[in-house]
Amino acid sequence: MQDVTDLPFWGLMNRYGGADTYYTEYFRVHADSRLEKWILKSITHNPTGRPVVAQMIGNDIPALVRTARELQNHPIAAVDLNLGCPAPIVYRKCAGGGLLREPQRVDAILGALRDVVKVKFTVKTRIGFDDPAVFDELLPIFSRHSLDLLTVHGRTVAERYRSAVHYDIIAHAVAALPFPVLANGNISSPAKALEVLATTGAHGLMIGRAAIRNPWIFEQIRQQQNGKPVFQPRGHEVLDYVRALYSSAASPGITEGQQVQKMKKYLNFLALGVEPTGRFLHDIRRVATEAELFNICTLHLAHDDFMPLEPFAIPFRENDVLAGEHA
Ligand SMILES: Cc1cc2nc3c(=O)[nH]c(=O)nc-3n(C[C@H](O)[C@H](O)[C@H](O)COP(=O)(O)O)c2cc1C
Repeated sequence: MQDVTDLPFWGLMNRYGGADTYYTEYFRVHADSRLEKWILKSITHNPTGRPVVAQMIGNDIPALVRTARELQNHPIAAVDLNLGCPAPIVYRKCAGGGLLREPQRVDAILGALRDVVKVKFTVKTRIGFDDPAVFDELLPIFSRHSLDLLTVHGRTVAERYRSAVHYDIIAHAVAALPFPVLANGNISSPAKALEVLATTGAHGLMIGRAAIRNPWIFEQIRQQQNGKPVFQPRGHEVLDYVRALYSSAASPGITEGQQVQKMKKYLNFLALGVEPTGRFLHDIRRVATEAELFNICTLHLAHDDFMPLEPFAIPFRENDVLAGEHA
């Protein structure tokens, strides 16, 4: 996730059990683009010991081909193309989710990339731009280019993050495609993870926002799958996680104010699992210093009660956070 899943964040997730595979933030690809150094560093310094997939976004075929070649000089398990980003600044240029309006263009891009990607070649897609009917045109295109894996976020671009997730359409993709499909969207607990795996038949899951809210989720899912007791964090443990996030947000030369701002990005997501009234979120958005931030976190988290960390329906605001952003 843009501005979230950087190298320190991966390292932190790994301490809590971590994902089986990590995806980079996307590399923006155009005629003059270069591999962004901070994203590349998460590949070259990957602290997780797990495979890394490098994601690209763009529509310029020669530039995508050049970038895919360059990426393969680094230790990646796969090159992934983003066909899902709903940010207007991206889709208006017909990249990310914007490409879903032009299946023929997707066809040409996938064909060119399939020829040069010698590691695994994967795609992350939504189910259409404003109408999932186009998905039936896209599935044969994905199939023809023998992707190694497709991740489906079960919403259209127009639905952004607001609607229910169309797991039935993910199940349709699983049934139609000869390669593995990952299901994505609103997987917020180990029980939901198993339910989505069962109802879609997907090979696996991609988890986004829930990982920020609940870094234990990957391990919890493994425990649930293996019939073991599922770890439940208590308030104090969540507070420790916030402290660890704060440390991971540090970098040479960063000011306290910048570090607090960076924390707000994470806490916007964590807040949804903290309490249902929106008070925590409201107060966190107004802090300016480390001391203020931890005063509020201590007020809400210095306790021994279990915290499911599933999102409350706060009259919010997650969409506000995402409006105009890269996701
Ligand atoms: C802040 C943010 C940044 C994101 N950046 C990316 C990205 O760079 N590439 C991508 O494929 N998806 C990105 N996404 C979308 C997520 O990968 C995921 O598809 C979406 O959040 C739905 O899954 P979830 O309910 O598990 O979060 C981003 C989402 C958020 C909230």
